Order: sequence, then structure tokens, then C-alpha cells
Amino acid sequence: MSNKFRLGILGSGKGSNFVAIADAIAAGQIPAEAAIVLSDVETAGILAHASERKIPAQFIPPGKFRTKLEEEAEHAVVEALRAAQVDLIVLAGFMRVLKGEFLRAFEGRIVNVHPSLLPSFPGLEAWKQALDHGVKVAGCTVHFVDAGVDSGAIIGQQTVPVLDYDVPESLHARIHAAEHELYPKCVAAIARGEISVQGRRVIWKKN
Ligand code: GAR
Repeated sequence: MSNKFRLGILGSGKGSNFVAIADAIAAGQIPAEAAIVLSDVETAGILAHASERKIPAQFIPPGKFRTKLEEEAEHAVVEALRAAQVDLIVLAGFMRVLKGEFLRAFEGRIVNVHPSLLPSFPGLEAWKQALDHGVKVAGCTVHFVDAGVDSGAIIGQQTVPVLDYDVPESLHARIHAAEHELYPKCVAAIARGEISVQGRRVIWKKN
């Protein structure tokens, strides 16, 4: 096992944020290694993208709940991440809330990307919430994960305009593209040890 900063990546969907991070690692922009990719969805694109890149990828059946992992499943995820000796958990479109055991095991070492400018529009289909609300500026947020929903300390945000002709799909695509720029930058800063947390405020030491 290498002594590089090790990422454990969790996702439920197509995995475009994972691809952006893996590409940034390959380009030397993130001093880290994608150690393992886990998904609660057997057919998720993120698992296929990981396998193509020869990164260990595993489906962990989530159990009977819709919005969280069953206790045994959560335990299996924690064990897999521990076995892979990860330094940081990167949630990349992981659509279940993480609970006590997980949060305790990796306290302060879990990050997430969310498709809105938090604290506006937490929860599902945030781009649609933004459009329905009529905001003129939308965007994405990378934040630490705490026990709430999309409520942890904010690491970085990137804005995009909301255009008059936007439909949910066009706004979501613009936000997605912003995520692909922002998330690798935030993960790189953490891997380089350039980020410190003071209460709710995240300080970028190099800024
Ligand atoms: C991203 O837009 C991410 O912000 C969102 O899921 C998408 C995953 O896309 N996450 C959430 O809504 C979490 N609350 P991807 O699978 O292509 O990276």
C-alpha cells in the first residue's frame, strides 16, 4: 500500500464527479490516490468508471431503507473504508444520509458536493428548487459532512448564472460542470493540508 493520501469515494449515480477527481489525480493536480470506490447501487456508472481505471470498486447492498443505509450495510461500508486505509471520504453523488457509526468512524474526514449554494436548497433536486424559487444565481457547494442534511462547514462554492430559458436539465448541466471544477480543487487543498477548520469557517491557508 502506498503512503499517498488515500481517498475512499462513495457514489450512487453516473459518477461524473468521480471521473473529474480521477482525471485530476492522473494529471498530477491532486496529490492523492483513489483507494476504493463504493456504491449502494449495483448498476451505478461510478462503479464502471472505477473498474475501467483499475480502482477497487464494490457494490454494498444498502438494505431495506430508501434514504439511509441499514445498520449492517453501514457497518460493511465502514469496514471496507477502514480496510482500504482511507484518509478522506469523498461523497460524489451518494444519495443516502450517513448516520452515527459512519460519522464517528471518520469524523471531520468526510466531504460532499451539493448542487446548490448552501445553505439555500439543501436536499433533493436542488437545481430544481433553485429554478422554482426564481433565483438568478445558482451553483454548487463542497462541504464537510456532519449529522445534518447538507449542513456541514463550507469548504468552497462556485456560482453559475440562471438564464431565462433554463429548464431543470440545462441548469443542472451548468451546475454539474461547475462541480467538476470545484470538487477536485477542494480535494487537492485538503490532500495538501492547506485547509483548516475553525468552527463553521474553513480557512484556505494559501489564500
Ligand atoms: C451531483 O450533481 C451532486 O451534486 C449530487 O448528485 C450528483 C451526482 O452526479 N449530489 C447530491 O444531490 C447530494 N445531496 P455524478 O454521479 O455525475 O457525480
